[in-house]
Amino acid sequence: MQESGSLFGRVTRLAENISDAFAFPLKLSHYVELVNPLWTSHDMQARIVKVWDETATARTITLKPGKNWRSFKPGQHLRVGIDIGGRHFTRTYSISCEPERQDGCFSIKVKAIPNGFVSNHIVRQLKVGDYIPIGIAQGDFYLPDAQPVQPLFITAGSGITPIMSMLKALDAEDRMPHVTHIHYAPQQYDVIFAKQLASLQQKYPRYKLHCIYTRNPGGVDTPEGLKNQHFSQAQLEKYCPDWQTKDVYACGPQPLLDALELFWESQGLRRRLHTERFRAALSVSTEPGQKGTVSLTKSQGQFEGDGQTNLLRLAEDAGLNPTHGCRMGICHACDSVLKEGCVRDMRTNELMREPGTIIQICVCTNVGNAVIDEA
Ligand code: FES
Repeated sequence: MQESGSLFGRVTRLAENISDAFAFPLKLSHYVELVNPLWTSHDMQARIVKVWDETATARTITLKPGKNWRSFKPGQHLRVGIDIGGRHFTRTYSISCEPERQDGCFSIKVKAIPNGFVSNHIVRQLKVGDYIPIGIAQGDFYLPDAQPVQPLFITAGSGITPIMSMLKALDAEDRMPHVTHIHYAPQQYDVIFAKQLASLQQKYPRYKLHCIYTRNPGGVDTPEGLKNQHFSQAQLEKYCPDWQTKDVYACGPQPLLDALELFWESQGLRRRLHTERFRAALSVSTEPGQKGTVSLTKSQGQFEGDGQTNLLRLAEDAGLNPTHGCRMGICHACDSVLKEGCVRDMRTNELMREPGTIIQICVCTNVGNAVIDEA
């Protein structure tokens, strides 16, 4: 029987309720947090127990989660909170390890992107012993329990992270199938997890990794005579001749995923392609953006919107800090109420101007002036 339904669990909750009454307006958990942040129950924290530089710009961070943590499926991601200069930021990162590790920890891989304020802070400033708030693992990018017989993985750059989690899980469970893996990186030294991939190749001849270096110095052709370019049908035929029979799991930059979706769609095999995006797929608008002033009622802030940039980003640039999570239109943490004016959903180009409409400010931009009651 689980603790929550046991006599012990009920007694514990009763004790917590009584304690909370004395701790009002805070909860007992807030005081417990001062002793050990991992024991809190009002939110979830994790302690950094190890940092490891995978490349010059990518770092693996190993985290010991607190008491509300539940496990995850290889391929899932989670939200991480970071406080910088008195402001709270949230970012989403893929988990890079296998579940159910003996030490109870898990790891994420963070790449410092150029001008990425938060990613650079995480890679350069966080250190062992720091505590950070985390969310639960989310996402439906994982191998089904009835595992596909022979998956094809297509990854680029840090998009390899969720696939690494899958590979480690298959290795840990000793059930590595025949896998074809096409990975794109600018150059050889940019390959994240290079050593771990090499040792998997050595251990499992049925794991076939093909790295394509898109900025290979000194030539435009790979040793196989194929152009160093991102995805092409010629590469696919070369490295995975039976690709039509494969279940494909792909993660990488938006142009690569767009190209894959277009190709598999054209082949009538779209249902075989599973993609993981870290940005919403946006539509191209034929209308020029309409600039205007956007007011956020709760934070009593204002900023100028260019009609092309999402409102969350503009608000943050203006020093405001609206509640948010995934930043890509999935979690609804940024749901806000449109009070006046008009906004455009950048994924669909739908215009919304009805007062009271719920909008996601991470994927909406302004069309002229707007007043928004933010989350
Ligand atoms: S932040 Fe997740 S939907 Fe906007």
